[in-house]
Amino acid sequence: MVSRFSPDARLNVGIVGATGLVGSMMQQLLAERAFPVGTLRLFASARSAGKQMEWQGQTVMVEDAATADFTGLDIVFFSAGGSTSRAIAPKAAAAGAIVIDNSSAWRSDPEVPLVVSEVNPDALATIPKGIVANPNCTTMAAMPVLKPLHAQAGLKRLTVSTYQAVSGGGMEGIDVLARQIEAVGDAGRELAFAGDAAFVPAPEKWAVPITNNVVPLNYVLGEDGYTEEELKLRDETRRILDIPGLPVSGTCVRVPVFTGHSLSINAEFERPIDAQTALDLLGKAPGVVVSDVPNPLEATGADPVFVGRVRPDPTVEHGLALFVAGDNLRKGAALNAVQIAEVLCGRG
Ligand code: A2P
Repeated sequence: MVSRFSPDARLNVGIVGATGLVGSMMQQLLAERAFPVGTLRLFASARSAGKQMEWQGQTVMVEDAATADFTGLDIVFFSAGGSTSRAIAPKAAAAGAIVIDNSSAWRSDPEVPLVVSEVNPDALATIPKGIVANPNCTTMAAMPVLKPLHAQAGLKRLTVSTYQAVSGGGMEGIDVLARQIEAVGDAGRELAFAGDAAFVPAPEKWAVPITNNVVPLNYVLGEDGYTEEELKLRDETRRILDIPGLPVSGTCVRVPVFTGHSLSINAEFERPIDAQTALDLLGKAPGVVVSDVPNPLEATGADPVFVGRVRPDPTVEHGLALFVAGDNLRKGAALNAVQIAEVLCGRG
């Protein structure tokens, strides 16, 4: 671990993507968790350069990330999309900062640790490129729940269906849902009886309209008819839980919920595990709260992930079915990034 990171040190922190949803949540969490910030610098695209933002009573001017000099920063959080991270994160790392990147750009790089703070913090022992990757928001919600179950019974296979909020698609996702709800208005009642084209908004951002609807094709198709999001769920789960080759079949669905991702999980294990044992383990798991009816509204604004509906899955020998909900902007993105920084400076 780099020596300047100690529990008493004040760290100079940068946020790239500071004007976005996750970047804003990062600023909120740094304040909420009293992270020991020396200087805070904010970065976004050239469009936002010169904009003034308030943080803890200070006015901070947004800088253009493309032309910025990152010298003097200890930690730089990135949440500005994969291409920005690919292009700029190595510059911030070369200037001496540890980069904590929320995009998918570095998650499969074996020299970049992919970390969930409660699950595999030991992966932070070596950071060869000066970059740490924050997992995808959907994978993230499942990890604190699956870790103790895997430790007990050995995870053998996963089938997951997701119910993902629009804020996972950034500010644009929120705007699209808000606009479509407004456009449909009271006429939405008519859709209960007939899919009358007059009441169906045009699709924006996703394959089909998001209001009064669900979108089972969430972004781009990858291998074997699975979407990139579904492949991230598979690949990142394998890396974080250290189970190479774990069979994972995901169906990632976007739903008209503003914030809070949910997952219906069917897990098969090597060894027997009953629902009560699972609930006992989950009741003690860090970052997890057991709930009778986990749901996105309950999860929104909360740090832990919520798990419930734990029951046997009788379709396999040692199987459990369960339901998870988590705030995709907090644990799913900004919170885990800040928690990684806390682990780095011994405050985790
Ligand atoms: P900007 O506001 O200047 O476009 P969200 O995912 O909530 O939409 O936020 C995306 C964030 O990423 C914003 O802060 C946005 O800045 C930033 N961003 C987008 N493209 C770039 C880029 N090419 N360089 C730096 N920041 C970028």
